[in-house]
Amino acid sequence: MAPKNKKNEIPSSGFSISEYPDTKEVMQQLNSLINQPIRSLRRDALENYIDNYYEKKCTKSKKMINEAKEVIPGGVQHNLAFNFPFPLVFTKASGCKLYDLDGNTYYDFLQAGGPTVLGSNPPAVLNEVIKLLKTCGPSTGLFHEFELKLAEFISSHIPTVQMFRMLGSGTEGCMASIRVARLATKKKHVLKMGGAYHGWSDMLAYGLRIPGTRHFESHGIPKYVFKKTNEFYPNDLESLDRLLFRNKFSGGTAAVMIEPLGPESGTRPLDKDFNAGVRKLCDKYGALMIFDEVVTAFRVGLSGAQGYFGVEPDLTVFGKVVAGGYPSAGGLGGKKEYMQYMAAGLQAGMKKALVGGTMAANPLSSAAGYFTLKEMERTNACEKAGAMGDRLTAGLQKMIGKYSLPFVAFNQGSICHLETVGTMLFDINFSRFWEIASKMKEIKARKEVMEEMGAAYMAEGIVTLAGSRMYTSAAYTEKDIDESLKRFERVFRNIEGVNVK
Ligand SMILES: Cc1ncc(COP(=O)(O)O)c(C=O)c1O
Repeated sequence: MAPKNKKNEIPSSGFSISEYPDTKEVMQQLNSLINQPIRSLRRDALENYIDNYYEKKCTKSKKMINEAKEVIPGGVQHNLAFNFPFPLVFTKASGCKLYDLDGNTYYDFLQAGGPTVLGSNPPAVLNEVIKLLKTCGPSTGLFHEFELKLAEFISSHIPTVQMFRMLGSGTEGCMASIRVARLATKKKHVLKMGGAYHGWSDMLAYGLRIPGTRHFESHGIPKYVFKKTNEFYPNDLESLDRLLFRNKFSGGTAAVMIEPLGPESGTRPLDKDFNAGVRKLCDKYGALMIFDEVVTAFRVGLSGAQGYFGVEPDLTVFGKVVAGGYPSAGGLGGKKEYMQYMAAGLQAGMKKALVGGTMAANPLSSAAGYFTLKEMERTNACEKAGAMGDRLTAGLQKMIGKYSLPFVAFNQGSICHLETVGTMLFDINFSRFWEIASKMKEIKARKEVMEEMGAAYMAEGIVTLAGSRMYTSAAYTEKDIDESLKRFERVFRNIEGVNVK
């Protein structure tokens, strides 16, 4: 908790994180979780959710998804929409609530995967977007004033972003950052943190979710693509130093890319001083430091995670909040000397990073991003959303204690983690190949239990991100959080071995 001022008030920080988690303690709890047997829902409780909720109250969703399976692979388009026992169809989103096709209402902790810090469809943004649509429509392929306004807003809040170029997605921002880093440093290798997600481009689909998995999940991508990509271990500066040193003798490291809170939006939280350590190593070896702030800017604060940690990356990747939940959310920002490689246009005779995108920086996305950020600033939305995350996490921790469960709840402001099985907390070590098959089997079993938990939360009226992450927004009130906690408690009471009298 921040210190109080003379008037006994806690001064506003503008940041979503009021207190950084004690990462050593959290990691200890998480390691203990993965070393214990799985605690899943009682089979009769799961059957009850399926028979009495999904099969009785979600019949229209089920019918539509079955129809969709004929023309859409798997029945849904978005990875986050895939829910057990079948995906639901949503028709309305407003503030902190979601509404499905069958008329059921939910608390929304998915928040579209992160972008809607103000909550869904805030009128202050909607009204401006409607005005824009009526005058110019969503896209022209030409410059619009809102591109300038958005770039100026970002640059004025994030000093390292002297220049900003908007792109179509976070994936594109990450791809562009590597091209710029290679041109600027004339070096070859890229290092990423094991377990981190930087979109689905060929080169970065490496070491996904679980550190040490290298190309395990990179189906459809030839292995030679990863010749110049490697992963270092989260929270381990020595492993990064070793790789940087090794790369010196084979073309050098162009960039070190990290998610500043830790892999998968801080699911494996980084020590508070880790980013500063990465900065020093980048300087030592002449590599560019790339912050992937697709989730953290502007959820942690309007100056991003870099403002919170007081660390200056060379390049920053944007996504999600940069378009306020509207489409085409991506971008890259950084110092002028690097961003010059992103100049648009057809000038010959100059080396430029190859970047494109018909819909990138369209007037709709630029206006939505600009008005979202202005409204977030006016309402101190990051801090408000963070306070709701603190309340939710404290409530979950209390309940975990009450029912003596091995689960772990922690948060970085409005990014909340509820680990009931800890699938992403395992490590894979390729040199101990005899362990890999059994670890993968254990991870798969735990993932299935996590999906069941997600299904139970959903049946109790809570939408989470894959059953283990929750984003809070400024649209939540304390009353909403307390009501959500009651719903979580109903699920916890259905866990195998919980004694409810
Ligand atoms: C940290 C991080 N980087 C990059 C991406 C990719 O962004 P997009 O889905 O917009 O391509 C994501 C998406 O979730 C992300 O969480």
